[in-house]
Amino acid sequence: MSTSMPIKKAIFPVAGLGTRFLPATKAQPKEMLPVVDKPLIQYAVEEAYAAGVREMIFVTGRHKRPIEDHFDLTYELEMALEQAGKEELLAVVRSVKPEDMECVYVRQAQALGLGHAVLCGQRLVGQEPFAVLLADDLMVGQPPVLAQMVEQFHEWRASILAVQEVPSEHTRRYGIVGGAAVHDRLVEVQRIVEKPAPQDAPSNLGVAGRYILTPGVFDEIARQPRGVGGEIQLTDGIAGLLRREKVFAYRYEGKRYDCGSKEGFLQANVELALQHPTLGTGFRDYLAQIKL
Ligand code: UTP
Repeated sequence: MSTSMPIKKAIFPVAGLGTRFLPATKAQPKEMLPVVDKPLIQYAVEEAYAAGVREMIFVTGRHKRPIEDHFDLTYELEMALEQAGKEELLAVVRSVKPEDMECVYVRQAQALGLGHAVLCGQRLVGQEPFAVLLADDLMVGQPPVLAQMVEQFHEWRASILAVQEVPSEHTRRYGIVGGAAVHDRLVEVQRIVEKPAPQDAPSNLGVAGRYILTPGVFDEIARQPRGVGGEIQLTDGIAGLLRREKVFAYRYEGKRYDCGSKEGFLQANVELALQHPTLGTGFRDYLAQIKL
């Protein structure tokens, strides 16, 4: 593996059951839930593209066809828009999949956990460093969060995990890292624990859904027995990687919305609607006149 390689491939694990968002996710993937006017998965793909990634690897499961359709050509729609002279909408539709972007799909037959989902992408990734993006974590940052991480990867030539400070009563929701501070935003990871109780957490730095990983992580995941919740955990694979290589945790600049939860999803919709170039002003006026 050459760490001088650019990050060209990203895995999007989209095979989870989305139980926290039922009933909306009973027959449709949570990654297709729209925040304002774009599905969650498109935000994540755009973030990866902005960081230089060109091969998008989706690890899919049952009910995930809409994701494949979203990134496919839509001849009838494009033809109808073209004939109607709706150039702006045509550009919107075509921008979903730029010509130099490739989308590939691999199936995770059973939702055995995030680590297992990442392992499903091993053959497509090969011996290259790669990114993992969880689309239900919607990240807003400038530069985009994955681009910040790619910059760190090139500086340190090692795996980079996105982290944020989390309230100590929430450690059970995250993988938590512990280690030695390199500088204000960077920690050399010495421990990583999945969903610890507050008293067992090595710090208050929780892993958000963005990773840059070296391919050695695949062997480490494959070696793991089932972890917390009976799932094959990515965190446990990263804990194995730590024993062989350096891994860094990077406190990204930006904001994360947990759109796998109803509260986070609603917050993202309100805030992104307020920032929207055409909807923002009207929506702000609307909110101001609601009697709370
Ligand atoms: P979550 O922990 O959010 O699980 O997975 P989930 O099943 O999607 O949602 P809840 O908790 O039941 O509401 C984190 C990410 O990993 C993917 C999910 O699609 C999500 O992007 N995942 C999880 C898989 O692809 N396969 C799995 O077996 C588990």
